Amino acid sequence: MRVHAIRLAEEADHDRLLAIYNAARRAAGCFHAPVATAEQFAKLIEGEEILVCEHEGRIAGFVGGWKSDRFIHHLYVLPELQRRGIGSALLNACQARLGSRVSLKCDASNLAAQAFYRRRGWVESGSGPGDFGPWIRLTLAQRGTNCDAPAGRTPE
Ligand SMILES: CC(C)(COP(=O)(O)OP(=O)(O)OC[C@H]1O[C@@H](n2cnc3c(N)ncnc32)[C@H](O)[C@@H]1OP(=O)(O)O)[C@@H](O)C(=O)NCCC(=O)NCCS
Repeated sequence: MRVHAIRLAEEADHDRLLAIYNAARRAAGCFHAPVATAEQFAKLIEGEEILVCEHEGRIAGFVGGWKSDRFIHHLYVLPELQRRGIGSALLNACQARLGSRVSLKCDASNLAAQAFYRRRGWVESGSGPGDFGPWIRLTLAQRGTNCDAPAGRTPE
């Protein structure tokens, strides 16, 4: 089993996180406005708790979310390091910190990410039109829980 080093992000990591964010969105090919500037990115992650996963001494991916809403807002892995379990390790670590009833929104056009979440036991629990195309809400399937995501938050 592969072991990934996961830690909380620091401000000094932000340039690397932006590079991963832009590379992963560009490679996915399904995002509206895939590239963000440093200023835009700083606004996007404002108030989020961010965890990073290191691979061979460098950050390979990150996950960010709002603890108060139990909502995952960002999950990105460097394209060349995808399909090695890094996304799963980040998601597990984030779920452990956010607690039960965790949810997220995913662009309806992002079929690869949906395959990833479904493989990990997430199920569709809502949908909406969105400013940049439809999104679906995904919730980690758990017996006896009610997983409502905050209405105003959209996927990035
Ligand atoms: C989605 C993402 C975070 C997954 O990260 P990852 O490190 O590649 O995921 P893992 O290696 O842990 O994948 C676990 C399983 O999920 C499924 N999966 C992952 N990526 C997949 C893809 N592109 N297509 C189909 N299934 C996929 C597979 O079953 C995989 O297991 P396998 O490789 O043994 O077949 C990554 O692909 C990414 O950064 N995508 C671009 C950004 C994005 O869409 N983020 C989510 C926004 S809601």
